[in-house]
Amino acid sequence: MKETTQKLVERLEEKFTTIDQNYETHLEGLVWAKPITYWDYIQPDALLNLQVQRTTLPDEMVFIMYHQINELLFKMILWEAEQVTTNNNLTAPFFAEKLNRISRYFDMLSSSFSIMQEGMEVEQYLKFRTTLTPASGFQSAQYRLIEFASTDTINLIDYRFRATIDRNTPIEHAYEHLYWHAAGKDHATGKKSTLIRLFEEKYKAEFLRKMEEYNTTNLYAKFKSLPDDVKSDNALIRAMRHYDYTVNVSWVMAHYNAAAKYLQPQGEAVEATGGSDWRKYMHPRYQRRIFFPDLWSAEELEDWGKNV
Ligand code: HEM
Repeated sequence: MKETTQKLVERLEEKFTTIDQNYETHLEGLVWAKPITYWDYIQPDALLNLQVQRTTLPDEMVFIMYHQINELLFKMILWEAEQVTTNNNLTAPFFAEKLNRISRYFDMLSSSFSIMQEGMEVEQYLKFRTTLTPASGFQSAQYRLIEFASTDTINLIDYRFRATIDRNTPIEHAYEHLYWHAAGKDHATGKKSTLIRLFEEKYKAEFLRKMEEYNTTNLYAKFKSLPDDVKSDNALIRAMRHYDYTVNVSWVMAHYNAAAKYLQPQGEAVEATGGSDWRKYMHPRYQRRIFFPDLWSAEELEDWGKNV
């Protein structure tokens, strides 16, 4: 046996002995293993079987597939964010690298929104949407997880309630005042729309767990824990601001403009499938969602979402 082969066998023996396995059985398994193929590894057959229309209108397929592309990119974003939030020995280059990856993915989501805005016939959309009520992209759980992973909970609280919430507020109370309840919760009575009720039935428990987990480990908290000289690094600050602006202004505006095209076709707004007062709810000027507020000047904060 060649020396290199001998070394490999020794390493395999060591690896399998450590987990109480017979390494010869595993070596024999290699004799019977079938060769890997693209379709076994990438799973295109499974992936391409997930596009199921509810109507006969061809543009509904564009709508379904573009949402699925978004969900895949959301997963890629969370994958990178997770490597920062779970890292206890964070270095500036590692942080910047992950942040740049996340930004690139969100840039792609923002710039590709033209697929929604230009890629469907309004007449077809207005027909197939009638089969989708009360569902909405609002119910994307990954989108919410990206927000929890990006910033401190206080920055996701509805501005009307921020003064009443701080680090000692129970997580569930904070959850009930997240900005997105404004899409369908009457804060005076506590009554929630079907959109939100169904969303919570499925995901609320996970959201509470994640809010707790990201409380001290979100991207903003991790950034703030870096040494001062790193935090003041211009390239890193630029990358943070770029990410914040892309998620909370560029993407939000691309989304808003697409919604306006389909939901206000003749100047008169129609009701959104999810039922929100969407013209107000979706505009960055009203939501003023900002992940990294310390990185913006008072004027920039004041003007957030205006002039876009
Ligand atoms: C023509 C295409 C689209 C229209 C007309 C549209 C419309 C809307 C509306 C009206 C809302 C507010 C909630 C409601 O009342 O339903 C909403 C929320 C949302 N949509 Fe879309 N949407 C479109 C495409 C997409 C796509 C492709 C995604 C990607 C996953 C998406 C993700 C979201 C998210 C995450 C929210 C919640 C945003 C927030 O809370 O600020 N939407 N959408």
